[in-house]
Amino acid sequence: MDTIDWNHIRSQFPVLKTQLNGHALSYLDNGASSQMPESVITRCTDYHSYEHANIHRGVHHLSQTATSAYEDTRSLVRDFLHAESLEQIIFTTGTTDSINLVAQSWGSSNLSVGDEIILSEMEHHANIVPWQMIAQKTGAIIKVIPLLDNGELDFEVYSTLLSERTKMVALVHVSNTLGTVNPVSEIIEKAKTVGAKVLIDGAQATPHMKVDVQKLGVDFYTFSAHKMCGPTGFGVLYGDRSLLESMPPYRGGGDMIDKVSFSGTTYNDLPHKFEAGTPPIAAGIAFGEAIRYLNDIGLDEITQRESYLLEYAMEGFSTLDHVRFIGTSNNKTSVISFLLDGIHPTDAGTILDKYGVAVRTGHHCTQPIMERYGIPGTIRASLSFYNNEADIDSLINGIIETQSFFN
Ligand code: ALA
Repeated sequence: MDTIDWNHIRSQFPVLKTQLNGHALSYLDNGASSQMPESVITRCTDYHSYEHANIHRGVHHLSQTATSAYEDTRSLVRDFLHAESLEQIIFTTGTTDSINLVAQSWGSSNLSVGDEIILSEMEHHANIVPWQMIAQKTGAIIKVIPLLDNGELDFEVYSTLLSERTKMVALVHVSNTLGTVNPVSEIIEKAKTVGAKVLIDGAQATPHMKVDVQKLGVDFYTFSAHKMCGPTGFGVLYGDRSLLESMPPYRGGGDMIDKVSFSGTTYNDLPHKFEAGTPPIAAGIAFGEAIRYLNDIGLDEITQRESYLLEYAMEGFSTLDHVRFIGTSNNKTSVISFLLDGIHPTDAGTILDKYGVAVRTGHHCTQPIMERYGIPGTIRASLSFYNNEADIDSLINGIIETQSFFN
């Protein structure tokens, strides 16, 4: 039985009590960015009001306190991912930054002419372009796993693409556009048979499900705070320790060094080797609060709640005509991408906004998916645990209004 008071949880998000165009806000754009509960917002303002100082740099009280609060987040992330050690948790500005770090640092020292990188047709641009950039520099070749009609990866093709030339398999855990949950354990297991390294883009997975990097045996795992009830500008790269140790620094500057001299510079130990300059300290500390918040609810409870909301939404959609769904895997998160016959997604999004319904429209930074299905974009409703039945009813009513406006 569901013992969590989801109305109470919802009431902890100030923005969800607001109105948009005279209607209660139905925020269904969680795939782009989630909202923050009061506890996380308060943690940010408290830090700015009373605790701010630079970290890792001062013996004075404020600096020491800020350092320890910031490093607490590292412990929370290690436990959240069930990682082996703190040194394997690298703080970045987000998933995009984490993938660029691996592509440039690992790629520049491990890729050469003819080596192959396997991506998929469902990747976010953040897991395509960094690989194209390093492939261009090193002469490596990119191979692409195609999509099946239902938005799952074609595993038969994946198996045929793998060879001793494969050096990296970089795939998304959960598609931001299709909602498809990829069988990452199987993907990793297969990649290991040819000795390839694996990077998993977990930006759309960590807000919705438990992830255990040791169980997965993954080499790199990336995600962002702002999709997990945390602030923007902060993210994580988890890496295999010996790989991270062997990789050159990505950016140079303060904090990432051991000794600097014009005759030669030596670098700091992990994780600091990859953390040059003053980081977004407030965001890092507030992200710790966001992880505590999610842990208090429970990731399994969140998964369950969101699958209930998805089911409720699909019942609502079943009453509508002239809807085409993109991404119909049985194993998906609460992402509903769809098109309304004869209505451009941007027009639909604009009308929905008038009814207080916030959805994302367009290509969702996944243009190859749009090319695959021959569509200009989709309307995407992405649900979070704090959404409720009323949000979904507003979406369905908004779609009815949109269809009647255009027809
Ligand atoms: N990647 C984010 C999204 O899916 C921004 O909307």
